[in-house]
Amino acid sequence: MTDNLKIYIETYGCQMNEYDSELVRSILSDKGHSLTNTEDDADVVLLNTCAIRENAHTKIYHRLQQLKSLKAKRKYSVTVGIIGCMAQNLRDELLDSHHEVDFIAGPDSYRELPRLIGDNRLGGEKGYALKLSRTETYSGVNPIRSGGVNAWVAVMRGCDNMCTFCVVPYTRGRERSRDAKGIVAEVESLAQAGCKQVTLLGQNVNSYRCQGYDFADLMRMTADVPGVERVRFTSPHPKDFPETLLEVISTHPHVCKHIHLPIQAGSDRLLELMRRTYDVESFKRLVTKMRRLIPGVAISTDIIVGFPTETDAEFGETYSVMEEVRFDFAFIFKYSERKGTYAARKLRDDVSASDKTERIVRLVDLQKRITGEINRQFVGQTLQVLVEERSKKEPGSLLGKTDTFKSTVFAGEGYQIGDLVEVAIERSRGGTLFGRAVGLSGGARRPARVAESIGSGAGETDTDT
Ligand code: SAH
Ligand code: SF4
Ligand code: F3S
Repeated sequence: MTDNLKIYIETYGCQMNEYDSELVRSILSDKGHSLTNTEDDADVVLLNTCAIRENAHTKIYHRLQQLKSLKAKRKYSVTVGIIGCMAQNLRDELLDSHHEVDFIAGPDSYRELPRLIGDNRLGGEKGYALKLSRTETYSGVNPIRSGGVNAWVAVMRGCDNMCTFCVVPYTRGRERSRDAKGIVAEVESLAQAGCKQVTLLGQNVNSYRCQGYDFADLMRMTADVPGVERVRFTSPHPKDFPETLLEVISTHPHVCKHIHLPIQAGSDRLLELMRRTYDVESFKRLVTKMRRLIPGVAISTDIIVGFPTETDAEFGETYSVMEEVRFDFAFIFKYSERKGTYAARKLRDDVSASDKTERIVRLVDLQKRITGEINRQFVGQTLQVLVEERSKKEPGSLLGKTDTFKSTVFAGEGYQIGDLVEVAIERSRGGTLFGRAVGLSGGARRPARVAESIGSGAGETDTDT
């Protein structure tokens, strides 16, 4: 009754949660459970949740309504567990107010899942496992991935930065880094399994430190693994970019020239109130240095509009900084008050909903224009694209990314997923480039074949701006 259950996992939130779901799959299948791709035949449904903004919670409440009906339909034979950041954030509140939830577990407690599931199947009380750990890095757990070209590899967990708006330090606890040799071994086995692109993950990934290795060392060690064509990383914090790291990005042929560098706001007063530890001038100096040391680097960012007390003039400063810096793309969010954070405790969420909307619309428009202008400069150039999937909108076309993270669509004749293809860019629309394949890239291991024609029409656009 408690073993060989069918487990269905649904993942929300960031790439770290995607990776964690892969760990959970491994922990549960090691205990004899099997995995299923649908809730219809599942004995256990797990929602791996996010807490970063209120709409992340809203999605789960909505989903729980549906699962309530599923439970009734299946005569209460289905176990529902909420895991991840929302579970850790809301704790008892979630268990008490939602009868359909059987147990909750936070991001450091996934080794407890077999027990929580077993207890529930034996008719026990609602369960929870919410201890945050200073040491848990899930060493020894081999993530079960869906295979393919890309893989996430968490290299550190938690965050010590305590930005005043952010719930992550409360949901994922203190910063800790994984053993470097274990990471390299994981990347080696990924490469042997045919994975071409590895993204090193952490909430604060460039704070990585372990056994005398820093993040620059780790990047070099993983990018040196034979068979790995591309190494990316996310998300770094602007406070931790030594020249050694910029040098690895600049010089290593397998490290992608894209840096996601969240600025959050363009006003020094707000940056201080957010406790971001840099000011606008030092951020801009860092961008200038990156562009000098890494020619062609793409830089993207995150912005929050409507942080408590943000005035029109301060929003105007953010607007000007974005005009001046010209990020390749940006994720722009409305401030959302999060339980337990300094901002929730000490500041009033006083920017009106309509002001937040107006500010986000203006910034999204600005960024769309800038992204369009930057991308048009690539028309006429030949860029290397790693093919990641078939285009859903353009039958016969392939979709991939440039080293600088630009989505690119081209006719797929003669090429396959995982190929590194030279693509002559013919036009750009929004965040997407469209082009014509001119051959496999020099370093690639398949014999070169030339595609015949392009035929890429209206196609994919990024969901970001
Ligand atoms: N560790 C990453 C951030 C992860 S969260 C980093 O520091 O870059 C991703 C983004 O969500 C943040 O960069 C921020 O822009 C946004 N965000 C975080 N908390 C938020 C909140 N309370 N309201 C709105 N956006 C938020
Ligand atoms: Fe949150 Fe700041 Fe840590 Fe990023 S660095 S996860 S924004 S506390
Ligand atoms: Fe969300 Fe947790 Fe990631 S709050 S963004 S799932 S770290």
